[in-house]
This record gives sequence, C-alpha cells and structure tokens, in this order.
Amino acid sequence: MRPQAPGHSQLDQLVMALFGRRKSTIGLDVGSGLIKVAVIDHSRGEPELARVVVTPLLADAIVEGEVMDPGIVTDAIRMALEQCGLKSRDVVTAVGGRDVIIKKIQIERVKEQQARELMRWEAEQHVPFDMESVELDFQILDPEGSGVDMSVLLVAAKRELIESKIRLLSDAGARAAMVDVDAFALHNAFEVNHPDAMSGVVGLINVGHEVTNINILDDGVPILTRDITVGTRRFREDLQRERGLGADEAEALLQGYDRSPHLDAVIEGRGEEIAVGIERAAAFLASSSRSASQMRSVFLCGGGARVPGLAEALGRRLRVPVELANPLANIRVREGALDGLVTDEIAPLLMLPIGLALRKAA
Ligand SMILES: Nc1ncnc2c1ncn2[C@@H]1O[C@H](COP(=O)(O)OP(=O)(O)OP(=O)(O)O)[C@@H](O)[C@H]1O
Ligand SMILES: [Mg+2]
Repeated sequence: MRPQAPGHSQLDQLVMALFGRRKSTIGLDVGSGLIKVAVIDHSRGEPELARVVVTPLLADAIVEGEVMDPGIVTDAIRMALEQCGLKSRDVVTAVGGRDVIIKKIQIERVKEQQARELMRWEAEQHVPFDMESVELDFQILDPEGSGVDMSVLLVAAKRELIESKIRLLSDAGARAAMVDVDAFALHNAFEVNHPDAMSGVVGLINVGHEVTNINILDDGVPILTRDITVGTRRFREDLQRERGLGADEAEALLQGYDRSPHLDAVIEGRGEEIAVGIERAAAFLASSSRSASQMRSVFLCGGGARVPGLAEALGRRLRVPVELANPLANIRVREGALDGLVTDEIAPLLMLPIGLALRKAA
C-alpha cells in the first residue's frame, strides 16, 4: 500500500508547529445592527475567505457605538464565534468614532526611532485629547523620500475606548490579538479589492445601521475619517414615521432591489445629510492640505449601501461617480464560506470584517 500523503490539515499543523504561525485570522466587527465575523486563511499564498458569520443584535444593545447592554452583546459575539467553527478565540477587532483621530502631518525627515520620540510632541499639537489617556501610532508615508520634510500618518485613540473593547471581548470569552482602527481596516479590504481606486482623492463611505463612516483616501492613503449618525435605522424610522410603513415593510424596502416613491422620499433628506458630510470632509481636507484636489469618485459599502436609489442620489448631488464597493471582488472565497447567506446581499456589509481578517495576527 502506498503511504498516504499528509492531508492539508496535518501539513498545516506541522507548519504551524515548526514556525508557530497561525494560519487563520478571525476578524470581528461588532456593529450596532449586525455582528460580523470573517475568517481568512493565510496559509496558502493568497488570502482565502474561509467563513463568514453574521448575527443580528437586538435593537438598542449598542447605540451610537456605545454598548448599552453588555450581556446581549457578549452573548451575540460568543454565538457568532462558536458558529465559525474554529477553536481559537483570538480575534482582530477595531475601534472607531470620535475618540479616534487620524491626521496626516509633515515633520522634519528623521529616522523611525526618532520619529517615535517626536510623535508625542506632534500629537499634542494636532490631537485634541489629553495625552495621558491616549494611544498613539504612526506611519511614515514616504520612507524612501529625500526631501527635508516627510509625511506621517498619525493616529490617536483614547485608551479607554481600546480598553473597553478588549474587556467586551474578554467577557465574551475572546481575546483581542490586535485592535485595529475602523478606517484602516476598511481601507485594507478596499485596497485589495479596488486597486484602481488608489489614485487621486476618493471617498469610501460605509453606511451602517446607525453610523456612516466617511473615509477619504488621497492616492490610496486614508488621510481622513469622520462619522455621522445616519444609517439604515434612520432610513427605516423615516419610512415608518413619514410614510406610514410598518417596520418589517420598511426594512424589506431598504434591503430590496427596487426603487420606490417611499424610498425616494426618505433618501432625499438622509442622502442630503450623507452628501453634506462627504462635502464637509472633502472641504476640510482641501483647506488643510496642499495636495488635496477634487474628489474623483465615491465608493459605498455597509448595509446602507444597498438602499435602492441611494448611490444614484449621492452621485447626482455630489456630481461624481458613485459605485458599490465589493470586498469579494479580488478575494478567493472557499466553497461554503458564505453558506446560509446570499452573496450579493451580504458582500457590501463585509468590507470591515474582511479588512480585519486580512491582518496576519502573529
Ligand atoms: N443582507 C442583509 N442582511 C441584514 N441586513 C441588511 C442586509 N442588507 C442590508 N441590511 C441593512 O443593513 C444594516 C446593517 O448594516 P451594517 O452591518 O453595515 O451595519 P452595522 O455595522 O451593524 O452598524 P454600525 O456600523 O452603524 O454600528 C441592517 O440593519 C439592515 O438595515
Ligand atoms: Mg458597521
């Protein structure tokens, strides 16, 4: 009898034992409407989406990014992680919102180590938080450059925000292997799937259940992030209050494929809010940076990106092409990874969790 070649799992175990490498990353996105888990297998040459789990969260358990009912949220996280079928509870998650600031700054060209020392001082000039309670990180954007100045992307997050996220996970029996920033994780998945959008000024807008993250990329660098409190929840409430629809009926319209006069009516107001948010962010950028030019296009993701007619309305209003971003455009998807889900209906919601799972948590 011929000896059997070791199966993939045995081989993977061997490789892991030899190099201590973890082959999969679990990305966990705790949204106010849906908890989303994406598992990406990094053991082969290119990343492969191995599993997606989406668990609804009861209304008001998270309101505007704040956890109101930790028990409900930790139960939902626990359940979602169980469903993804891995033993590991090490996850990559992210923080965002107004307690996270990203800023592109210019400083004199120095070595990485020296830049690290300068950063706290720089942050004091640029970040309106108490420096004692903040976590800082940075990236030199042009490390190979030779000018007297260099561009640095500075990110500051309130320590309490990170600590409460870690606590939430630990209460759910999980461990935060890495705490990322929403804007960077979104960017990460966007870059892999839409390499053509990495030049010029581009907006990446994640319209969620309660919050819309506005991210602006300049030549592929995520230089600005802002949140506004508009999402599908507001759309649904408008449909109920102003158009007399029931909650289920309203939700069906929002998640459907067809435009309707009801939708058009609420999109007019809420779409305007989103458009103004994008315009303000772009205007802020133009006033604070020399390089910023006209925004050339806008990509939408998140559950709200699916609202029929929203992309068209934003395009008309902003006078730029607006299209749907797809986090699965350029990623290999394992058979069965999206079992129980309708791929086209869930894909727009997966930009953040896939961006998280693309990290290789060592
Ligand atoms: N296939 C789908 N399944 C479930 N909800 C969907 C779907 N498509 C669109 N939606 C809508 O998208 C919303 C969830 O979007 P998303 O997952 O982006 O928000 P979230 O991350 O939970 O919220 P937030 O980021 O604002 O905290 C739902 O509340 C629903 O209205
Ligand atoms: Mg979200």
